[in-house]
Amino acid sequence: MNQTAHSVKSLPAHNDAAQRYQSVRRYTEQLIAPLSAEDLVVQSMPDASPGKWHLAHTTWFFETFLLQPNLADYRPFDAHFAYLFNSYYEAVGPRQPRPQRGMMTRPTLDQVLAYRTYVDLHMQDLLQTTLNKEAHELFDLGLAHEQQHQELLLMDTLHLFSLSSLKPAYDSLWPRDKPGRKGKWRALDGGLQAIGHQGEGFSFDNESPRHKVWLEPFEISDRLVTNGQWLAFIEAGGYQQAGWWLSEGWTTVQAEDWQAPFYWYRQDDAWYEFSLRGLHPLDPNAPVTHVSYFEAAAYAHWAEARLPTEAEWEVAAHAGLLEQLDDVGWQWTQSAYSAYPGFRPAASAVGEYNGKFMINQMVLRGGASVTSPDHARPAYRNFFAANQRWMFSAVRLARDTRPALCNGPETEGQDEERKAFAADVIVGLSAPQKSLSPKYFYDTLGSQLFEDICEAPEYYPTRAEAALLTRVAPQMAALIPDDAALIEFGSGASEKTRLLLDATPQLGVYVPIDICPNALQRACEQLRSAYPNLQIAPQVDDFTKVMHLPEATRDRARVGFFPGSTLGNFTHAQAVDFLRATHHLLGRDARFIIGVDMVKDSAILEAAYDDAGQVTARFNKNLLTRMNRELDADFDLATFAHKALWNAELARIEMHLVSQRDQIVHAAGQAFAFKAGESLHTENSHKFTVQSFTALAAQAGWKVSHQWLSDDPQVALFCLA
Ligand code: AVI
Repeated sequence: MNQTAHSVKSLPAHNDAAQRYQSVRRYTEQLIAPLSAEDLVVQSMPDASPGKWHLAHTTWFFETFLLQPNLADYRPFDAHFAYLFNSYYEAVGPRQPRPQRGMMTRPTLDQVLAYRTYVDLHMQDLLQTTLNKEAHELFDLGLAHEQQHQELLLMDTLHLFSLSSLKPAYDSLWPRDKPGRKGKWRALDGGLQAIGHQGEGFSFDNESPRHKVWLEPFEISDRLVTNGQWLAFIEAGGYQQAGWWLSEGWTTVQAEDWQAPFYWYRQDDAWYEFSLRGLHPLDPNAPVTHVSYFEAAAYAHWAEARLPTEAEWEVAAHAGLLEQLDDVGWQWTQSAYSAYPGFRPAASAVGEYNGKFMINQMVLRGGASVTSPDHARPAYRNFFAANQRWMFSAVRLARDTRPALCNGPETEGQDEERKAFAADVIVGLSAPQKSLSPKYFYDTLGSQLFEDICEAPEYYPTRAEAALLTRVAPQMAALIPDDAALIEFGSGASEKTRLLLDATPQLGVYVPIDICPNALQRACEQLRSAYPNLQIAPQVDDFTKVMHLPEATRDRARVGFFPGSTLGNFTHAQAVDFLRATHHLLGRDARFIIGVDMVKDSAILEAAYDDAGQVTARFNKNLLTRMNRELDADFDLATFAHKALWNAELARIEMHLVSQRDQIVHAAGQAFAFKAGESLHTENSHKFTVQSFTALAAQAGWKVSHQWLSDDPQVALFCLA
């Protein structure tokens, strides 16, 4: 049957509510366009409903809860429909048993479509009147309800078609889930957080009240588990070993002979997946979908992780850390579906909408490729039983934070750091030009956001330096004497260092210096396994203060290494002090390899520090979040704008947070006034020319012996002697 055969009369929409109503109702009818009348009658299993029933039930909702109570003289289209199309409302009356929804050859599809038109006409009349608050809320609920059934219609159709040996495509052009990279762990500090619906927009009753939750520090994957990762689970005997499974899950695996996700099929030694586009070869890089809670939990167990709680998911979503949030599949959480503290279902029949299902189901968060436009939101709580697989479900992993790096649980040292932070904030925010040191950017989230910045298309320095280093490492290596000590300042994960280590087999010892003992330890473990013949002598030190060198550097030629343009974040005086201190530390005859960013066109520079994806803006604003958390501050992030500007005179990119209005902000127990337009200066990133860098080095007693410049956008590596 073609589209016109299902067409329903379009009505003039006179106001916003009427327009919203029309657009939701028409979308349902668009969704049935590829389906035949036969497709719309059959019920493939008790959990699913026939398309015709969805069409009629959503219409019954408007008729029962809006037209009958609110439109004078409204006469139901057909008195029998109350029985046929009531879903589960005990307060409304008896109903067709759910498993027998597929027995309804009558009313015919045409009669159901006529029912829709009849109700639509009367809804247009009702929407010309002024609805009271309760009716208005029911109207919004009716639209959200129909959107839920739009998704159900697609889920149920896919299930029905999967049972056909023809494996028909619902729509061969239905969009594919985009393949992509595997997930990366994103760490969050936890603490006291708020979850639940916030603000004016629509929400279901189960999303309220907003309330506080305590979260331990955790990590969450920014992307969903892929088919390829799931294949590895299968190949590792995932569906054969009870040890990964919850007891009930394992019973289900055996009873239902599960071997793979719901819509996976094995043919001629290859995996295929059935989707709304029909049967097609499995894409290992696309996210896995249609798995039950039991499977998701077993996979997480096997992957040495766990599923996130719904609170963790929501907090991470609000922090902007998650990709594939609502466009692939609803993500299982390890939270049982139950009432939020203070939840009260509505007193009327629609009180049955959500509350009575708060048992034996797990919460899923996000949204799916089949979720209707504008229907998903971070506070949305979807729910299904642990064995169900026909919905578009997906898996996002989480795990407890591993042994702390530098931003782990509170220690005495951190208490001191917090006091120093408070003192710096008081001084910095009291000055005529408010400012703070950029070192405060790098809490757990800030460090991650910086990694994200390095991947932003506009932020060239990291990529450009890595490419340059790869190209010139052999030339640098030729300057490094046999058995020398390579000493890196602020080594972090020592990732870039590997480019140099690979080219320098003659090295005697590598000395990574970092302030964070655990980061150092982790980096050393990895380096030791990658370079088993290289001596590694880590040194815990703050490289901006007094430093020491380990014994292993004694009597060896010393080569300093400071890539990453971090020197640009120092003031001129700090840079000179640092270069003098390293000169002294490394000793006579030492060499020092330093990476810096070069002066260039201001448009390129400003874009690099104000990327279209707003990652740098989030990085900058995270400083406010950090003050709110650590110094009991009350910055409202929405009232500050990120700004990056090129200061040509001082050859630096400046980052600021500009107050959008007059306001008083409290931090570290003090009040600070911001005028509208006034800025908090958060970072300078100095750019150099060969001349300016040579002059700077000279002030600290160094001479440039070699220089390597990258292609545009230009960065440089200098060797000082
Ligand atoms: C760490 N440092 C070299 C970065 C830079 O480019 O100055 C920090 C940064 N700030 C915003 N984007 C990147």
